[in-house]
Amino acid sequence: MVTYIEAASAPKKNTGAIRLYNTGEDFDGMRRACQLTARCLDELAGMVKPGVTTAAIDRFVFEFGMDHGALPATLNYRGYKYSVCTSLNHVVCHGMPDDKPLREGDIVNIDVTYVLDGWHGDSSRMYPVGQIKRAAERLLEVTHECLMRGIAVVKPGVRTGAIGAAIQTYAEKERCSVVRDFCGHGVGRLFHDSPNILHYGTPEEGPELREGMIFTIEPMINLGKPHVKVLSDGWTAVTRDRSLSAQYEHAVGVTATGCEIFTLSPGGLDRPGLAPLKG
Ligand code: MF3
Ligand code: CO
Ligand code: CO
Repeated sequence: MVTYIEAASAPKKNTGAIRLYNTGEDFDGMRRACQLTARCLDELAGMVKPGVTTAAIDRFVFEFGMDHGALPATLNYRGYKYSVCTSLNHVVCHGMPDDKPLREGDIVNIDVTYVLDGWHGDSSRMYPVGQIKRAAERLLEVTHECLMRGIAVVKPGVRTGAIGAAIQTYAEKERCSVVRDFCGHGVGRLFHDSPNILHYGTPEEGPELREGMIFTIEPMINLGKPHVKVLSDGWTAVTRDRSLSAQYEHAVGVTATGCEIFTLSPGGLDRPGLAPLKG
């Protein structure tokens, strides 16, 4: 027997089946939510400077959402208390905003997910704080390239493992390592849905992609070893060897011939603080 409450919330449960979003309105809904997130991430490029606190960034992300009719999906998500994740230097992901000012030379990932009209726009970028060391800059470049190489293989018929293989091959060629403990995920009506998108592996692994699937790709790449631990706060994941870690995240929808990147920066700020890409 199915109750009305269960029936009403059916699309809000991760059943393990991979949802297909094949009406034009679905992709439109994702475009709107994801572009709001991308605009917020663009605004943050002008705000991230030495002296600014991640708590101020958290406030900005909350207010920007409110001003545009969107809620931060992370707020009260599984007990998480903030509108954004801010992951600094050796923090791999799920860093929590606090009152410590950012310092010259820091690198920080800012991960925003707005829910707009029921659609989840999930994206993150790295932000250099002032002038950063060459090794840090190289890590950001490698990590962004990992994300784009993962996206480049997305099309119907390919398995999710092809994404991981593309990312791992490039990261390791560049003498960096891929974090195994966190992955990309189906996204859309739900924040975290099937399938899991691993950032390592082989092209034969995982389910086949089909037109209408929507998911994130969000590689976490370390300068040192891949191993992480979660601090006693239950959220903050850090590299065990305290090496620098970076992450960029896009939400993409599979099309007939490839994919659409929903979270591309409207202002050309997909890699804030880095030299513009050629071509
Ligand atoms: N936005 C993150 C992701 O890319 C999830 C953050 S969940 C939180 O999936 F609770 F840590 F905020
Ligand atoms: Co995500
Ligand atoms: Co995210």
